[in-house]
Amino acid sequence: MAKKMMRIGMSIRGLGYHPAAWHHPDVPADGTFRFEHYVRSAQSAERGKCDLIFFADGIGIRERDAPRGSLARSGYEIVEMEPMTLLPALAVVTKHVGLVTTASTTYNEPYHIARKFATLDLISNGRAGWNMVTSWSEAEAKNFNREEHLDYDTRYERAAEFVEVVKGLWDGWEKDAFLFDRKAGQFYDESKAHVLNHKGKHFQVKGPLNVAGMPQGHPVLVQAGASEQGREIAAETADVVYAVHGKIAQAQAYYADVKGRMAKYGRDRDDLKILPAICPVVGRTVAEAQAKFDQLQELLDPLVGLARLYNTFGDLSGYPLDEPVPVDALGPQEIRSMSETLLKRVREEKPTIRELYKEVAGRVTGFGVIGTPAQVADAMQEWLENDACDGFNVTPTHLPGGCDDFVDMVVPELQRRGIFRKEYEGKTLRENLGLKPAVNRYTVARSRNAAE
Ligand SMILES: Cc1cc2nc3c(=O)[nH]c(=O)nc-3n(C[C@H](O)[C@H](O)[C@H](O)COP(=O)(O)O)c2cc1C
Repeated sequence: MAKKMMRIGMSIRGLGYHPAAWHHPDVPADGTFRFEHYVRSAQSAERGKCDLIFFADGIGIRERDAPRGSLARSGYEIVEMEPMTLLPALAVVTKHVGLVTTASTTYNEPYHIARKFATLDLISNGRAGWNMVTSWSEAEAKNFNREEHLDYDTRYERAAEFVEVVKGLWDGWEKDAFLFDRKAGQFYDESKAHVLNHKGKHFQVKGPLNVAGMPQGHPVLVQAGASEQGREIAAETADVVYAVHGKIAQAQAYYADVKGRMAKYGRDRDDLKILPAICPVVGRTVAEAQAKFDQLQELLDPLVGLARLYNTFGDLSGYPLDEPVPVDALGPQEIRSMSETLLKRVREEKPTIRELYKEVAGRVTGFGVIGTPAQVADAMQEWLENDACDGFNVTPTHLPGGCDDFVDMVVPELQRRGIFRKEYEGKTLRENLGLKPAVNRYTVARSRNAAE
C-alpha cells in the first residue's frame, strides 16, 4: 500500500509563537513592519516544499493589558500587517506554496470575501485559501460598532450561511463561461453566468461576482473551530481543518469524529485534510534543541509571563517571583474553574511564580516537540500513521529561524522516510493537497440534465 503522504502548513504570522520571540537575537524586533521579514519566511517555507503558508489573524489587539504594563512589553500579536493585503504581494515572490489567510465571517460581508479570495487565486495562479473563522473577542467587536461579540449560536449560524453565499458566488461563472471571441463579438456565454439571488436570514446577495476565472474554481476552504458547530461545518464544507491538540489520543478522537461526520454530506474522508498545530524546536543534538528552547524561556519578560497567569490567578505582580504561588492568599473570584489542573499542580508541587509562568508561557501552541530532526520526524510520523492527522500546521517559536530549522533539518528527514514530497506535484494548492477539483453546482446540474 502506498504510504500516506504528509501535508504541511507553515504558520508565519508575526514574529513567531513563543511570547519571547521578539527578544530573540535572530528575530528582527521590528519585523512586523517589514515586508522582507514575511518574504524571508514565505520563501523558506517554499524551499521546504510546504503545502501552504498560513496566517492566523485578529482584527484588533485581543490581548488584555493585565497586569498593567504587560502589553507594552509584549511583542506578540500587537501589530502586524493585514494578511489579505500581504498575501498578494507574497504571491509575486513565491511560485508554488499555497497562500492561506484567516478572515472573519462576523466582520465581513460574503461578497467582499468571495471577491478578495477569487482575486488572490487569480494573482497566485491557484494558490489561495481562506481560513474561515467566526471571531471571538470583545476587542474585535469594539472595532466594529458593537460592545460585545455576537453570541455563539448566531455567529455560527451566520458563518454557515456566509460560506454558502461565498461558494454560490464563486460558482456564478462556469469554467468555460468566457469566450473572449472577438470575431463573433461574444465576451461571455450568457447561459454560463448565474445570478445567485440569495435571500437568507443574515444575507441578501444578488450576484454574480465581478471576478471570475479562478484556477481552483473554489479557493481552498480552511476551518478552525473545535466545537460541535465548528466540527459540523468542517465536515460539510472544509477542505482543510486547522486544529490544536496537545496529545495524540485527543487528536485521534477529533480526527475520527470529524471524518465520521463527512459521509452524510456525500464526502469521502480524504476530501478533508486535518492539520493540527505542531511547534517543533529542532537541534542537531537533543542538547542543542533544548538550549534553543531554554534561550527563549530565559528571554521571557516577567510581566509578559505574569499576563499568561492572569486568567487563572489574577494579578501576581505584587508578589516575589521566586517564591511559591500564593494560592491560598487569592480570593475565589481570581481562580477560575477552567484551570483546575494547573491549580492542583500548584497546590501539590508548589512551584514559584517564575517557574509557573515560564511553564505556561513555554507551552507552545498545540503539540510541542523538542529534539533532533529524527525525534521530531518520529513524533510527526506517529501521528500521521495512527489516524491522528493528515499533516501539520507548523507554528514556529520564532521567525524566520524556527521555520528555517524545520525546513533545513526536519523536512529532509521526512522526505528520506518517503512521507513528504520532494517536489511540488501540482500547480494549484488544491492539487498539492491531493484534493479533488472543486465542483461547480451549475455545471453539475447542466451535465445531469443533459444525461437525462
Ligand atoms: C486551531 C484554531 C485556530 C484559530 N484561529 C483563529 C484565528 O486566526 N482568528 C480568529 O479570529 N479565530 C481563530 N480561531 C477561533 C475560531 O474561529 C472560533 O471562534 C473559536 O474557536 C470558537 O469556536 P469553536 O468553539 O468552534 O472552537 C481559531 C480556532 C482554532 C481551534
